[in-house]
Amino acid sequence: MTKLWAGRTEAETAKLADDFNSSISFDSRMARQDITGSMAHAAMLGAKGIITQDEADALIDGLHTILDDLSSGALHIDPAAEDIHMFVEQVLTERLGDVGKKLHTARSRNDQVALDFRMYLRDEIDELTALTKALAAVVCDKAEEYKAAIMPGYTHLQRAQPITFGHQLMAYAMMLLRDLGRLEDCRRRLNISPIGCCALAGTTYDTDRELEAGKLGFDGICLNSIDGVSDRDFAVELCAALSIEMMHLSRFAEELILWSSWEFQFIELPDAYTTGSSIMPQKKNPDMAELVRGKTGRVYGDLMGILTVLKGLPLAYNKDMQEDKEGVFDACDTAKMCLEVMAGMLPGMKAKTDRMLKAASEGFINATDFADYLVTKGLPFRSAYKISGAMVAKCIREGRTLEDLSLEEYKKASPLIEADIYEAIDLRNCVQKRVSAGGTSVQSVEKQIDTVRDVLNS
Ligand code: ARG
Repeated sequence: MTKLWAGRTEAETAKLADDFNSSISFDSRMARQDITGSMAHAAMLGAKGIITQDEADALIDGLHTILDDLSSGALHIDPAAEDIHMFVEQVLTERLGDVGKKLHTARSRNDQVALDFRMYLRDEIDELTALTKALAAVVCDKAEEYKAAIMPGYTHLQRAQPITFGHQLMAYAMMLLRDLGRLEDCRRRLNISPIGCCALAGTTYDTDRELEAGKLGFDGICLNSIDGVSDRDFAVELCAALSIEMMHLSRFAEELILWSSWEFQFIELPDAYTTGSSIMPQKKNPDMAELVRGKTGRVYGDLMGILTVLKGLPLAYNKDMQEDKEGVFDACDTAKMCLEVMAGMLPGMKAKTDRMLKAASEGFINATDFADYLVTKGLPFRSAYKISGAMVAKCIREGRTLEDLSLEEYKKASPLIEADIYEAIDLRNCVQKRVSAGGTSVQSVEKQIDTVRDVLNS
């Protein structure tokens, strides 16, 4: 088949070269964006008198029909076509004759592919935003359900201080809020139109780039045509934002895996999101959470992939840039799936609050509160810390807890200690007293939930 771009060459390209060169297997995803972009281009050409209004109308009608035929299945994408841009133009020309050949006036595939890619990723960002919001809403609901459920908070994976399960869950909601911010930020920088930059140097035709950009919902135009066709920062930024979001999901997934282990037994994941073992009948495996953790690796890979493709590329367009899409598509697909799975799994997650409380009662996690108690009685914190540490050591030696010690034993450690020590080290009070902003008290967690919900509803 003679290529639309066969200008100076005479011999046919090798079949192997055609296959190697082709990107239709993955860029056909951008068919809708390509056709929509072409409609705006035809309209601009007509409005500026570069082609006649009748020609513009014919092109727009023809493009509409292609879009309809593709969605109804009447038209199939030809896997032998070089890319989606060539395919659409070829079909249009087959259907309309010479008018079809006018569509590519005052543009190049270089600005066309940059346009399509931005439009496609803009739609992806909108979907990712909706899914991230949906997950954050589910996390808020769970946090509300367990806002008073006491569990040990950890540092170094050692029991540290009493917190509530709701508080721990809200930490993940905060991460998701930042993820939303990054998606929004990325969308803002992405939403600038490259169409009209043409091959690299702009065009001699009297085009109206703003008009075309406005029709396609862009906030402005790329101000330098060389940058316009060579910039893929938006794709890198999206992969980076998704890598961070996946890192969050992976940490969350890891905790779900730990908490659902027999060693912790803090939560029970819903049957619908776990699997059994083909050999060990007792097993309930957190496969979905593990896959979320595992798939994080491929999204990081996608980020490294695009950064590496772009590294050292001279300006402006180079064919290397055709390698920009698959990884970014994969990052979007993967993140969307993981967000949906997490949002599907969490509502059915049940906390074993008695196990959590028991674990909280066993690790001396009220030792800080004991020290704080002595501070309220007038001791400097460092001295109070020493006494509390010594009492913990005594309890460990004797196999007891701070709650078990008698008032006499306490008084021996410090005459400042009175009967109200028991109230001070009661786990519920330890949690409730942490009223500092962002802290673990029920009212503070309620405030966090309200704040996140306000952002999600805004
Ligand atoms: N399929 C190409 C890509 O994805 C389209 C742009 C090709 N431009 C060119 N001058 N060869 O990057």
